[in-house]
Amino acid sequence: MNPTKERTPPGHSANATAFMAARDLESHGFFLTPFLQPGFDVLDAGCGPATITTGIAEAVFPARVTAADVSREHLETARRLTQGREIVNIDFIAASAARLPFPDHSFDVVFAHALLEHLREPEQAVREFHRVTRPGGFLAVGSPDWDNFALDPHPPRVARALHAYRNLQERNGGNTRAGAMLRDWITAAGFTALVHDEWIEEHENPRLIAEYLALQLENAGQFHHGTALREWAALPGARFCQSWKFATGVRADEYTGRPLRTE
Ligand SMILES: C[S@@+](CC[C@H](N)C(=O)[O-])C[C@H]1O[C@@H](n2cnc3c(N)ncnc32)[C@H](O)[C@@H]1O
Repeated sequence: MNPTKERTPPGHSANATAFMAARDLESHGFFLTPFLQPGFDVLDAGCGPATITTGIAEAVFPARVTAADVSREHLETARRLTQGREIVNIDFIAASAARLPFPDHSFDVVFAHALLEHLREPEQAVREFHRVTRPGGFLAVGSPDWDNFALDPHPPRVARALHAYRNLQERNGGNTRAGAMLRDWITAAGFTALVHDEWIEEHENPRLIAEYLALQLENAGQFHHGTALREWAALPGARFCQSWKFATGVRADEYTGRPLRTE
């Protein structure tokens, strides 16, 4: 399979990059942090612009982080953003989470943030995460749950625009309730679930997320929904609260108490 031939939501616009690049390990990957230690090999699947990946790389140095993404455009942006930051332990690779080009038991920790909700077969990706995790190693995944989003104000035309966005993502094969499925998916793949929880991101700049959603709706020809979102974001005091859910697990099968890292 040629990874570049796959559909690569959520697009490569400057807005989409800016939207994702505002994230870092502390803000969006905090549930991964307890599993990171120097010397651990980590896979960041669906790394996007890799602004979370750089924090992981600092935490596990001198081990390496493999930053995988199906989109060569995102990988190019990620390389550019990390250049000059003196981060030397990230390997970027074009690969689909559906079929990872790594042998079994390659990583101490696998991480995927804001990826599974975009995939037609998220369970297949999680099975791949299990395959490449070393016995005794960890998985940490995070995705939104649109059922718990809250906007203020929330007029009907904005509710309709959000509904249209959800339909669009689902028509593209995604799942806007992926966050709520994470624990089931990781246990079905063979991980023993550790923590699963929800956190709410109140967007500091509602215009950025409104623009991110509006552009995707407009690309699908739904211009009136894009306008509704932009006008909403320009209202004084507009608030956009996004529900994120995360689940962590350990690959407890086959674990015999050996050190995680196998040379
Ligand atoms: C919403 S972005 C999240 C980026 C980053 N993890 C973050 O949270 O900021 C989703 C990323 O997953 C990538 N992606 C989509 N389908 C993929 C697949 N099948 N395998 C690997 N990456 C994929 C997209 O190209 C995009 O970079």
